[in-house]
Amino acid sequence: MARCQKVTISVLILLLLSCKQSVPESSGATFTFVPEQNGKAKAWSLADLQMGANPQIIEGYDPYYAKKKRFSAVSLGAIATKSFGLSTADLQHRHFVLRARDGYQVPMDGERLFEDASAYLAFQDVDVPGFEPIGPQKVSPAPFYLVWAKPHQIDLETHPRPWQLASIEMRSFESVYPHTVPPTEASALSQKGFRLFREGCIRCHAVNREGGRVGPDLNVPQNVLEYRPEVQVRAYIRNPRTFRYSNMPAHPHLTDGDLDALIEYFRSMKDQKFDPDRSEAK
Ligand code: HEC
Repeated sequence: MARCQKVTISVLILLLLSCKQSVPESSGATFTFVPEQNGKAKAWSLADLQMGANPQIIEGYDPYYAKKKRFSAVSLGAIATKSFGLSTADLQHRHFVLRARDGYQVPMDGERLFEDASAYLAFQDVDVPGFEPIGPQKVSPAPFYLVWAKPHQIDLETHPRPWQLASIEMRSFESVYPHTVPPTEASALSQKGFRLFREGCIRCHAVNREGGRVGPDLNVPQNVLEYRPEVQVRAYIRNPRTFRYSNMPAHPHLTDGDLDALIEYFRSMKDQKFDPDRSEAK
């Protein structure tokens, strides 16, 4: 009898544990700051932010919505200094990776992220209940959408606005993306292509499984130049919509020289494959 009770109790505990794990993510919207190495992460619930971080209304032109928008938001600089326990000047010397729930990720220098204390975490649209859907797939930007308050900060390349933002990690680029770096003997053109990839593509694409997960990995299992002709890759990068309606934005600002560099970078990575998840059995 006693044994039977014990079994019942452990089954109950197991059930309770599994219930806890299956709580949907959206019910506990949190924003997490992850410090370097072994530091303790600091998670903010939406309620903490609303009560303790002095929400404001941020108004201005939004390049994704292509119109003026108003958001309830908290200052990223203010909560980052509290969470990391560092001054703004210190944060400006560090490096960060911003991670969104949909696989978008942006490596960014502190100098940019904390420029003019003008980055804000928006948690609510003032004019549309919740949030107005955003992007090609018309998704909700919740729980957090990064916006910039100054009128000149509307270039998405230099001032990215990730939606569904969930965390900011203090990490150097080299520690998060070591296998995206071209070999030291790679040409100057390849190095230039890598810089362009790092600035404009790694947000959505991985190389060697390191990078965003919105678009495909461009080096493994096959390098994109191993299964597509170079002319097609060049044309696709500049304007994907001439091939198919996809979620990749056009890149009309890339010059022919920039495309040469990107192609050279991909070519130099072809023999530098690294894929931790791939085993012969798969
Ligand atoms: C906002 C996210 C996003 C950004 C930024 C982005 N891409 Fe993409 N890219 C995608 C998606 C999504 C696809 C898959 C589209 C499809 O299936 O048609 C794609 C497809 C591609 C392909 C075709 C791959 C194949 O096998 O068909 C190439 C090449 C490519 N991207 C290169 C680039 C380069 C180079 C950059 C930077 C200059 C870049 N992309 C920036 C999202 C992005």
